Amino acid sequence: MQLEKFVDELPRPRVLKPKGSVDRLEYYEVPMKVIKQSLHRDLPPTELWGYDGSYPGPTIEARKDNSILVKWTNELPVNRHLLPVDTTIHGAEPPNPHVRTVVHLHGAKVSHDSDGYPSAWFTNGFKEVGPDFERKTYLYPNNQQATCLWYHDHAIGITRLNVYAGLAGFYMIRDNEELSLNLPKGDYEIPIVIQDRSFNEDGSLYYPAEPTPPVPDVYPSIVPEFFGDTILANGKVWPYCDVEPRLYRIRLLNGSNSRFYTLKFNPVNGKAPHVMQIGTDQGLLERPVHLMELILAPAERADLLIDFTGLDGLEFVLANSAPTPFPMGENPDPNTTANVMEFRVGNIVKSYKNNTMPDRLVEVERLDPDCACKIRNLTLDESTDQYGRLLLLLTGQNWNDPITETPVINSIEIWRFVNTTVDTHPIHLHLVKFQILERRPYDLAYYNATGEIKYTGPARYPDSNERGWKDTVRANPGEITSIIARFEGYLGVYPWHCHILEHEDHDMMRPYRVVKKVCDKNKY
Ligand code: C2O
Ligand code: CU
Ligand code: CU
Repeated sequence: MQLEKFVDELPRPRVLKPKGSVDRLEYYEVPMKVIKQSLHRDLPPTELWGYDGSYPGPTIEARKDNSILVKWTNELPVNRHLLPVDTTIHGAEPPNPHVRTVVHLHGAKVSHDSDGYPSAWFTNGFKEVGPDFERKTYLYPNNQQATCLWYHDHAIGITRLNVYAGLAGFYMIRDNEELSLNLPKGDYEIPIVIQDRSFNEDGSLYYPAEPTPPVPDVYPSIVPEFFGDTILANGKVWPYCDVEPRLYRIRLLNGSNSRFYTLKFNPVNGKAPHVMQIGTDQGLLERPVHLMELILAPAERADLLIDFTGLDGLEFVLANSAPTPFPMGENPDPNTTANVMEFRVGNIVKSYKNNTMPDRLVEVERLDPDCACKIRNLTLDESTDQYGRLLLLLTGQNWNDPITETPVINSIEIWRFVNTTVDTHPIHLHLVKFQILERRPYDLAYYNATGEIKYTGPARYPDSNERGWKDTVRANPGEITSIIARFEGYLGVYPWHCHILEHEDHDMMRPYRVVKKVCDKNKY
């Protein structure tokens, strides 16, 4: 079955309303529920898991420094998952129930016990809570600059399945600095989450129960990565969006499990909308950056200004050219996955408010590599598990191995991701924002033999649209990607991981601990 493109309108996620206030803080409640939703005109309604009854979940709008409370509750079936659960991988083993959830606010600076630690999962009615955690309402202080965050499930061993089932939504932080720029807002600001999915004939979600070829002895079994054959934006397959011939602010999020996107408008009569990027994962850039195309790895966000002025009556397909796996795999299918959505430009502008492109945005403080008190070389490795399946690791260690990364609070560190695999991995650190210092080619064989780095070419600076604060970085094969971060905010244990969800679940995730002071680093 081939679904027709551009027949459904792009939905706009609604904004979540608080339930009231607790201790003078806005208080929200978000239940996770089984829902049925139409994802395409010609598909029967699809059973999904949604936050507060919708997929994607409702958008939470927050103001910088205004704390909010969110009680996330699980009203899902007690032990029947929507998708095939592999019980051989970390944290999914019996007697752990199949249906477990915990919510992480991606990109938020929050205390460890509100971060959604993978093992802090809970089940329907909080009947069970993962080891060492007390079930609580999460506190989000919003003590960080305006940007687009997203909340999604993070339960150990089944994150890929829970997110695929629909558990993801936007979380916007606003501040005065951003508001003073008079950027397009209201109808002219559109958050768009891009995700790939596959469907069965009856409209239900398809997710493979085993890889090809199958693994002897394990069924269901995790797959090394997953690529759907349709692309959804805000929960509709290949939608269209009517726009006016003026400036729009588009907040893009790649919410896919494994798929990268390289996005570009197909020109019509030699014309295409002008696209500028104004912000990265963690906030605004210093000035707008003109884009020819945009690469977006899983979990990365791009804050864009798109100008449809003078393009009255034209229809533009937002196209994707990213190979799967990225960057050396197969090209997307021109009839399906090479298309994301369509923008249809009308003839009337209802309001010309906030219709100008600013030249300057915000000051971005540069972290100085000379101030780093520690440089860590962290490998991204390929290995095999006990069933002979591909196993991806960070620093050659499993999630359950003792903590080895223990940055001191308020100190600056440089983390160098030494990619020894053939794929790009989007590496994400919880708690902190960081800057990309450089990417540099190195001699892999020499590194494998000696453990020492020999560079084989000059360092490349980050792309001009990456020169702001990030929380997820593409670590490419053949390169060492260096980032710099100040480990501020909170003490405690946080994950860092690859954001390809199939990798994160098996086993490309490690805990790190922010500590008070250095005594004996091996102790932590
Ligand atoms: Cu968006 Cu640890 O994740
Ligand atoms: Cu995160
Ligand atoms: Cu990965």
